[in-house]
Amino acid sequence: MTLPSLLLVGCGKMGGALWQGWLEHGLAPSIILDRRCDAPPAPHRVVRDARDIPHDFRPDIVILAVKPAGMEDALSSLRPWLDDTILISMLAARTMESLRAACGGARTHLVRAMPNTPAAIGQGVTGLCGEGLDAEARAVCTTLLSTVGAVAWVETEEQLEALTPISGCGPAYVFLLAELLEKEALRVGLPPETARLLARGTVSGSGALLAASEESSETLRRNVTSPNGVTAKALDVLMAPDGLPALLEKAVNQAMARAREMAS
Ligand SMILES: NC(=O)c1ccc[n+]([C@@H]2O[C@H](COP(=O)([O-])OP(=O)(O)OC[C@H]3O[C@@H](n4cnc5c(N)ncnc54)[C@H](OP(=O)(O)O)[C@@H]3O)[C@@H](O)[C@H]2O)c1
Repeated sequence: MTLPSLLLVGCGKMGGALWQGWLEHGLAPSIILDRRCDAPPAPHRVVRDARDIPHDFRPDIVILAVKPAGMEDALSSLRPWLDDTILISMLAARTMESLRAACGGARTHLVRAMPNTPAAIGQGVTGLCGEGLDAEARAVCTTLLSTVGAVAWVETEEQLEALTPISGCGPAYVFLLAELLEKEALRVGLPPETARLLARGTVSGSGALLAASEESSETLRRNVTSPNGVTAKALDVLMAPDGLPALLEKAVNQAMARAREMAS
C-alpha cells in the first residue's frame, strides 16, 4: 500500500515522529517544509521556505505540525497548495474556526488531530475530529494515521480538547514515572546502570503486558497486589485521597485550562 503524498509543514518532535512512521510504510513523493530538519531519502525532499515548494506539487494531504503560535504565518505562506486537499492540523489549542480563517478561503477539508510521540515506533494514539468530511476523506485520514498507531475519531472539538491532556500529553506522564522510579532506585542504593534498567524495563514491560492482555489495567494492578503485602503498602500511599488520583485530576484540569487559554 502506498500512502498519499504529503506536504508536511514542521518536522520537529511531533512531525518528525510521524514522518518516520510514514516513511517506513512507503509514502507517495512528498515534501517537508522545515527550516532545520535533515533531507529525507529520495523521492522525498525538504524545502526551507514555502516559496521553494514547486507550484505544480499537488499534495493529497497537508499536515500542519508547527508550534501553535506559527499557524497563521505557515498557512498564509501555503495558500497556493491548500485547495482541494485535506489539511490535518496537529496543533494543540487551535480551533477549526481559527484554522479556517487562517486558510484564507481555501477549498480544503479540515481535520484536527491529536497524535502522540510513540507514533515514531508505530504505537501512537491519534484522536481525530473532522469538519464536513466525506467518507473518502475520512478513510484517507484513517489509513494515514493508522500506520503509526491506533486512531480514535471523535464527534466534536470539545471531545478532541478533552483527549489532549490524556493521550497527547500522556507519554510525558509515563516518562515522568520512569524518571522518578530511576531516581528512587538510586536513592535506595542501586547502581546507576541497574537503576536505569529496572525503571525502563518496568515501565516498558508493564506497557507491553497491558497491550497484550485482555484484562483491564485495574485487574492487572490488583494481580500484583497481595492484600497487606509490599505493593499494597506502596499503593496505600499512591492511592490516598491526596495521592495520585487527585494529582492526576489536577494535572489534567491544568492542561485543559492552558489549552483554553492558548486558544483564546
Ligand atoms: N510534541 C508532542 O508530543 C506533541 C503532541 C501532540 C501534538 N503536538 C503538536 O505538534 C505541534 C508541533 O510541536 P513540536 O513539539 O513537534 O514542535 P517543534 O519540535 O518546535 O517542531 C516544529 C518545527 O517546525 C519548524 N517550523 C515552524 N514554522 C515553520 C515555517 N513557517 N516554515 C518552516 N519550518 C517551520 C520549526 O522550525 P523553527 O524551530 O526554526 O521554528 C521546527 O523545526 C504543536 O502544535 C503541538 O501542539 C505535539
